[in-house]
Amino acid sequence: MDDSQLQRAAKDHLWMHFTQHGRYDGSGPEHDVPVIVRGEGVYLYDNHGKRYLDGLAGLFVSQLGHGRTELAEAAAKQAQELAFMPLWSYAHPAAIELADKIASYAPGSLNRVFFTSGGGEAVESAWKLAKNYFKLTGKPMKHKVISRSIAYHGTTQGALSITGLPNLKQQFEPLVPSTFRVPNTNVYRASDITGGLLDGSDPEAFGRWAADQIAVAIENEGPDTVAAVFLEPVQNAGGCFPPPPGYWQRVREICDEYDVLLVSDEVICAFGRLGTMFGAEKFDYEPDIITCAKGLTSGYSPLGAMIASDRLFEPFRTGAASFAHGYTFGGHPVSAAVGLRNLQIFEDEKILDGVQTNAPAFRATLEKLNDLPIVGDVRGEGFFYGIELVKDQATKESFTDEECERILYGFVSKGLYDAGLYCRADDRGDPVIQLSPPLVCTQEHFDEMEQIIRGVLEKAWAQI
Ligand SMILES: Cc1ncc(COP(=O)(O)O)c(C=O)c1O
Repeated sequence: MDDSQLQRAAKDHLWMHFTQHGRYDGSGPEHDVPVIVRGEGVYLYDNHGKRYLDGLAGLFVSQLGHGRTELAEAAAKQAQELAFMPLWSYAHPAAIELADKIASYAPGSLNRVFFTSGGGEAVESAWKLAKNYFKLTGKPMKHKVISRSIAYHGTTQGALSITGLPNLKQQFEPLVPSTFRVPNTNVYRASDITGGLLDGSDPEAFGRWAADQIAVAIENEGPDTVAAVFLEPVQNAGGCFPPPPGYWQRVREICDEYDVLLVSDEVICAFGRLGTMFGAEKFDYEPDIITCAKGLTSGYSPLGAMIASDRLFEPFRTGAASFAHGYTFGGHPVSAAVGLRNLQIFEDEKILDGVQTNAPAFRATLEKLNDLPIVGDVRGEGFFYGIELVKDQATKESFTDEECERILYGFVSKGLYDAGLYCRADDRGDPVIQLSPPLVCTQEHFDEMEQIIRGVLEKAWAQI
């Protein structure tokens, strides 16, 4: 198809995800669907040949960047050898070797890998395993899930029920019942979150308070009914909320006290995003389950996984019990082969060391933006950042819904893209610019991001 045929067909037939199609309902270049045709290194190219720095690694996915022939070749080789075989009572070498590899990286006793096609399915699998495990071990009432407000955990009905974003849920209610929200760790908004009790100047105290709210929720719901807590190492939605010091250790204590499973949802935070293979390693805790996806294959083929502890596998290890759950494409041979090659490249090219070395420079470069009056907070870890935009730095006053629509979507989002930076302006919590570039980015790319964002935010400020 040529460009105009692509536009026509996109408008007539393609249903894009989380997309206001009304934006493309009209003629003229301002209503064109953006079409990306090629990727090379940390850059994307559109159908007009224009180049964009990939500031979001696609969608927190492209850890090694684009156009890596080794990964394409691994996929082709596997497709020729064995294109498909499910993991339903049978196995294939790529899934076996990848499970072995993942278990070798995963913390402590997390040795059992259940493959899925993506992150939402991993979250579904974790909730179902938690319920199944407790039914098999004499605590059949344990089924409820606790998660954090504004956190995103996926769109399938169970994962969406665990998600803490009311605007994403209302139109699909009633969802799966039995999920409950606790406060997140937005230190910048600690005063609002604690009702004025703490102002965030002592992050440790705020972290302790936030973790303790999980115990309060478990008590309120009844410890005999709560199966699991789902938390991200660094929460994405809302714009990167790293854990305050001690937060995870306190959460682990609480989960142990009430025999509630701790699920570390690492769909974004695993595979080098924070400079470690898993986020749990970064913050030094051992969950009962890790859910992951995205960066496992750097996006060269879809794959997700639920990694469970030995304790959770024990009831299924012998005898007649089976986890009656699975997906046709979970652990697809091509995806598993790509995952193996991806992790091999992580080792060969010391990708984790690279993130650890470059992360302070990434932070320092983004923090330069603090001199702009529209920037309220620059926060994150590793190669994962959120820049919160405010109307008033001193009062932290945020934008109204109308201003968000006009400034964030109408101007900032489009302005960044037009200026050659692909990233995301998000107002699922307070308005933020999200950055999560490929892990192979270096100072020149950090500078490019900072310069583009600076230029666009200066113009946005002039429009307020
Ligand atoms: C923390 C978290 N959990 C789950 C998901 C859902 O993953 P997927 O879109 O692969 O289903 C996402 C997606 O961004 C996520 O960020």
